[in-house]
Amino acid sequence: MARTIYILNGPNLNLLGKRQPEIYGHETLADVERDCGRLAAELGVGLRFLQSNHEGQLIDWIHEARDEAAGIVMNPAAFTHTSVAILDALKAFDGPVIEVHISNVHQRESFRHHSYVSLRADGVIAGCGTEGYCLGLRRVASLTAP
Ligand code: DQA
Repeated sequence: MARTIYILNGPNLNLLGKRQPEIYGHETLADVERDCGRLAAELGVGLRFLQSNHEGQLIDWIHEARDEAAGIVMNPAAFTHTSVAILDALKAFDGPVIEVHISNVHQRESFRHHSYVSLRADGVIAGCGTEGYCLGLRRVASLTAP
């Protein structure tokens, strides 16, 4: 059976395309899911693409990924900068984790420069727009290749 990769999205990313398009662009999360779905099919991996505005739900999906996923691509959104609980959940996951940010967080407000998730992530992609998701997916697929 094909290995499955989880792509997890944090708060407000359901508004992608409508929210601050000058920063996050015009593509919607459905567009990103479609692109990642096409790439996953090309790479021969399964995909579970999820978004929640709730920290606990994201943590529950990371726990689920312990049994179900070979790797995780995650845009934790604002929880990147605040959530020790998401960091701890990711530390309990054994496969590769790639952290994705659509914007270049290092060019923005100083509170966005620190990431708890980076303490666990095997790689970080920032400032590549929504293409960063496909880059992250490619990286997790290559790190988990049989
Ligand atoms: C973000 C950057 C975060 O600082 C912000 O809170 C987001 C999105 C990004 O994709 O650029 O919601 O993770």
